[in-house]
Amino acid sequence: MEKDIYILGIESSCDETSVSVVKNGREVLSNVISSQVPIHEKFGGVVPEIASRNHVEAISNVTKKALKDANITLNDIDAVACTYGPGLVGALLVGVSYAKALSYACKKPLIGVNHIEGHIAANYITNKELKPPFLCAIVSGGHTHLVHIKDYREFEILGKTRDDAIGEAFDKVARVIGLGYPGGPKIDKLAKEGDANIKLPETHFENLDFSFSGIKTAVINLHHKNPDVNKADLAASFEKAVTNVLLENTLKAAKELNIDTIALAGGVSANSYIRENFLNLEKTHNMKIYYPELILCTDNAAMIASAGYYNYISGVRSDLELNAVPNLKLS
Ligand code: KG4
Ligand code: ZN
Repeated sequence: MEKDIYILGIESSCDETSVSVVKNGREVLSNVISSQVPIHEKFGGVVPEIASRNHVEAISNVTKKALKDANITLNDIDAVACTYGPGLVGALLVGVSYAKALSYACKKPLIGVNHIEGHIAANYITNKELKPPFLCAIVSGGHTHLVHIKDYREFEILGKTRDDAIGEAFDKVARVIGLGYPGGPKIDKLAKEGDANIKLPETHFENLDFSFSGIKTAVINLHHKNPDVNKADLAASFEKAVTNVLLENTLKAAKELNIDTIALAGGVSANSYIRENFLNLEKTHNMKIYYPELILCTDNAAMIASAGYYNYISGVRSDLELNAVPNLKLS
């Protein structure tokens, strides 16, 4: 029987300090997430310097709790995996430095993980049967990528946003119409009370790129010109327009590549309207649709440990020169 592999994952790219222990890439033994949302809420968005300081304060206790919850010691860990980009440089540096120190002190291999690769891997934890190849729509606060997952570590970016990331558009619309930060979950909730009866300009390109700024600006202009427009209708119409764009591109890619397995990943994949509409493709287009459980959609360390595992088994190792790379690309 093959030996079980335990990876300790560390995530600190934005405003969540998270540490997790994952067995064999798919089984979460612990996933501790210390969120800074209440701290940044009053500023209407993440303040990078404050995020870094709070990571420093939290990381040691979060790590201790992750080991305790998993009922494991550092001796039993096979490797330490940490997000080294993309993200906020100061925030990333806290996790990277902490991971380097742990790896050195415990003589365990260090593995730098791409945060976007982590979001994709969240799907392997929730959906035990999911294996590459498949198509993945990575929809988060910082990214909107349509990616062909050819193998666990082999990616081809088919399309990406030319302006706002989809989550960024959610957050900006929410802020302008007075819902506060983070906007995505608030729009999700409010949209359920509204009708998607406002026509918004959906942008489509010849290729598989996205654009969300036109939809966002139209909503903001409508609200400024007429503050009495029903906010729930605005939220529902916004959600419908961005989902249409996302669906159309994803279907186009699936057809071009002749792939019938689609996964969603990233914070915006927590959106109930988007999940529901993608799930409908199982009936209307005979596709297989996957997304992570809610807690694994937004930033967490279990997804980093899972991606770390697939790097580990293919022999990837980082050394103590590992640095934060704020604009790290997927492939
Ligand atoms: O993946 P994530 O935690 O961080 C990045 O890597 O960017 O994504 C955060 C984004 C935020 O823009 C947030 O508003 C959005 O995910 N989000 C949602 C929902 N939950 C989180 N957007 C729409 N509906 C939701 N339910
Ligand atoms: Zn993320």
